[in-house]
Amino acid sequence: MKLKNIHLENYRNYETIQLAFPNSLNIFLGENAQGKTNLLESIYVLAMTRSHRTNNEKEFIRWGAEFARVEGEIEKKERIFPLEMAISSKGKKTKINHIEQRKLSDYVGALNIVLFAPEDLSLVKGSPQGRRKFLDMELGQVNPHYLYQLSQYQSVLKQRNHYLKRIYETKKTDQNFLDVLSEQLVESASHVLFLRYQFLLKLEQHAQKVHQKISHGKERLTLSYQPSLPIAQETTKEEIKAIFLEVLKKNQAREIAKQTTFVGPHRDDLFFLVNEKNVQTFGSQGQQRTTVLSVKLAEIELMKEEIGEYPILLLDDVLSELDDDRQMHLLETIEGKVQTFLTTTSLEHIENKMKSTPDIFYVTNGQIERKSESV
Ligand SMILES: Nc1ncnc2c1ncn2[C@@H]1O[C@H](COP(=O)(O)OP(=O)(O)OP(=O)(O)O)[C@@H](O)[C@H]1O
Ligand SMILES: [Mg+2]
Repeated sequence: MKLKNIHLENYRNYETIQLAFPNSLNIFLGENAQGKTNLLESIYVLAMTRSHRTNNEKEFIRWGAEFARVEGEIEKKERIFPLEMAISSKGKKTKINHIEQRKLSDYVGALNIVLFAPEDLSLVKGSPQGRRKFLDMELGQVNPHYLYQLSQYQSVLKQRNHYLKRIYETKKTDQNFLDVLSEQLVESASHVLFLRYQFLLKLEQHAQKVHQKISHGKERLTLSYQPSLPIAQETTKEEIKAIFLEVLKKNQAREIAKQTTFVGPHRDDLFFLVNEKNVQTFGSQGQQRTTVLSVKLAEIELMKEEIGEYPILLLDDVLSELDDDRQMHLLETIEGKVQTFLTTTSLEHIENKMKSTPDIFYVTNGQIERKSESV
């Protein structure tokens, strides 16, 4: 898959720019605060309609402007089609082939992306919330059904929590209504959980191979889903529903007292184990980095398997965070097959490592100038 070109209007510090990407490797070079991450973010937003950096999407709009727009042409399965994502005070609008897509699950997945940013290095060490977001974003891209079930789950969960609060305040319970909400909750939860287990199994297979290679055969990586419900990999959807309902029934009085739903996919976590030990607590910094890199490279292979084409890769200033050995693994894996957009403040870490000639773009204060040369 390829991003052929991009057109930004009022996106962050860009007023209007148009860039073409005939090459596989694209390097954005510039000093700090010039707009390198903004550009990568705009590509990410074109794919996902949301940012990895912020939940406040109004930030995309250039200060003083009314709207922001990102357009790009995608080449996928021998077809070329335009994508568009615009945001104004009225909200977001997304289009595939000039046709508006009202449902997120109809839009996301048209352009597939793997992003590797410095924040990802904290995937292992960071919060369970970060790991859930990782799961949701990656799985959502390859499986629109997952995205649909997840948004169902989130909206019912919100309703149910509201209703628990109402019960608490009014001291009156309409048991039938609460049961209906619980039924709806476990229904979508069963799909979400089932798909998460399936996805992780596949991701693990790929990540294991990469990790073994980077660690020169010394380490074995496993991914372990940590459900808040008493379920496991083998539990069927029907069983998940029954177990979840049972737990909700048992917790009802306490959930009303606390006005919240205690368990479910929104409370789960994911552990990364190296040689059976949790890397979060026992891993060295190097092992943690290898783990994240293995998972990112695994995503690339998994997407290829699911979609039939490689995704595009965004690398925001990460090469300098990796040692030579890990850099080589990364570059070896992507060269020639994955269209890559990479930001850096200096070519030092890239020099002499690439076989192909990249396109270099100089980024200065919201202006981009293209210059091709070999590094
Ligand atoms: N909505 C906006 N409108 C105008 N400018 C913005 C907006 N949002 C961010 N900026 C500007 O963009 C700049 C940051 O750009 P960006 O994060 O892309 O920098 P960078 O080139 O990646 O730098 P670094 O090398 O430090 O990561 C900020 O200094 C800010 O002034
Ligand atoms: Mg940056």
